[in-house]
Amino acid sequence: MDKFIITGGGPLQGELRISGSKNAALPILAATLLADGIVSLGNVPRLNDISTMVALLKTLGLAIEVGDEGKVSVDASHVTSTTAPYDLVKTMRASILVLGPLLARFGEANVSFPGGCAIGSRPVDIHLRGLEAMGAHIEIDGGYIRAKTNGRLKGAHILMDIVTVGGTENLLMAAVLAEGRTILENAAREPEIVDLAHMLVAMGAKIEGIGTATLTVDGVTSLRGCEYEVMPDRIETGTYLVAAAATRGKVRLTATRADILEAVLIKLEEAGAHLEVGDNWIELDMQGRRPKAVNIRTAPYPAFPTDMQSQFMAMNAVAEGTGTVTETIFENRLVQVSELNRMDAHILLEGNTAIVKGVERLKAAPVMASDLRASASLVIAALVADGSTLIDRIYHIDRGYESIEAKFHTLGADIRRVRQ
Ligand code: EPZ
Repeated sequence: MDKFIITGGGPLQGELRISGSKNAALPILAATLLADGIVSLGNVPRLNDISTMVALLKTLGLAIEVGDEGKVSVDASHVTSTTAPYDLVKTMRASILVLGPLLARFGEANVSFPGGCAIGSRPVDIHLRGLEAMGAHIEIDGGYIRAKTNGRLKGAHILMDIVTVGGTENLLMAAVLAEGRTILENAAREPEIVDLAHMLVAMGAKIEGIGTATLTVDGVTSLRGCEYEVMPDRIETGTYLVAAAATRGKVRLTATRADILEAVLIKLEEAGAHLEVGDNWIELDMQGRRPKAVNIRTAPYPAFPTDMQSQFMAMNAVAEGTGTVTETIFENRLVQVSELNRMDAHILLEGNTAIVKGVERLKAAPVMASDLRASASLVIAALVADGSTLIDRIYHIDRGYESIEAKFHTLGADIRRVRQ
């Protein structure tokens, strides 16, 4: 398993280009199943999770060409299978996102039941209940979700009792080809869902209320191919901004947007960062000062994103004062606390809240990554630790951060990948 060796140093400084959004590209790739023509995508990030989704779509019979510079072309006109196999689904939960499109276009789908993962059980009950409301017959058999419809799915009025990003995406992709009108209430409003909706509209879908908690969809009988550019990755953006804040640095991030992570930018300003933003860039300058501790409470968009809490925990670990980090979305997403405390952080856990008392510098120690964003917090912590930190199991990081060591090198970090 690959490891990182990171030697703590001074402030991060420089400019780097942000990649396309993993969490927009995954549902957008799944949505290509709905098109009876060629979908040409741009700004698709080069990540392990994207490769897994491409492999899954290929097993379903789609013709996919992955070009340079984030170009991916998908032709779904000859789907040969409606089964998403266990060996692929077990490596990436987002595989569940092919369920809605397969059902909507082909009237059947067999998707291996996604297990939980490090951050929680992550059930899919809301996905399944919504599809049943649209007329699907669903049973769980031999670890597979076996779904069928007689003819087309039917539009339905669905209230999701938990705000779910994947549930909203799956039901939206099912609704666009259903017969009649579907209303999705209490829908998630994440920018990645807006991106998916915009791509579906480019394919000919009829969706009202994009970006709001109520999506109204009038089903059509078919969807065409289109060209679409994936939005920037707001979590990658936030991760590099927090790394710069924790190291008292100054960075400029391009090919990104400020309007998709306002809750994060507000917290960075609270921490003492000077921010300047443009149409497609963000500049953060700590003016060499130590960050101030901030209080974080995760919640659905537009509130503070759960995918950014562990990065802020690492910043709080070396900030002035004491900050709290409360995780309300997932039941087990504070696992990085024990690893950070191995690096001499002073963090107390009380239920779903971490109380972080800042110290001037951390100390290098061997630590282990557990999930994608917890791994990012360990990288940030290692950048502000005395000595060389060894981070094991960094395959977690390769799932969601494109060329992470090259990008951190650009900013002056001392980070090496040890292949084993
Ligand atoms: C998406 O996961 C993201 N993944 C996650 O990012 C992100 O943390 C999460 O949304 C929340 O923002 C992708 O977009 C590929 P949810 P998802 O359904 O869709 C419960 C990363 O690091 N729930 O919004 O799986 C669930 O257990 C990843 O990039 C049900 O109870 O998240 C959780 O507690 C990690 N029943 C809460 O809702 C359901 O049917 C939110 O989950 C569905 C969800």
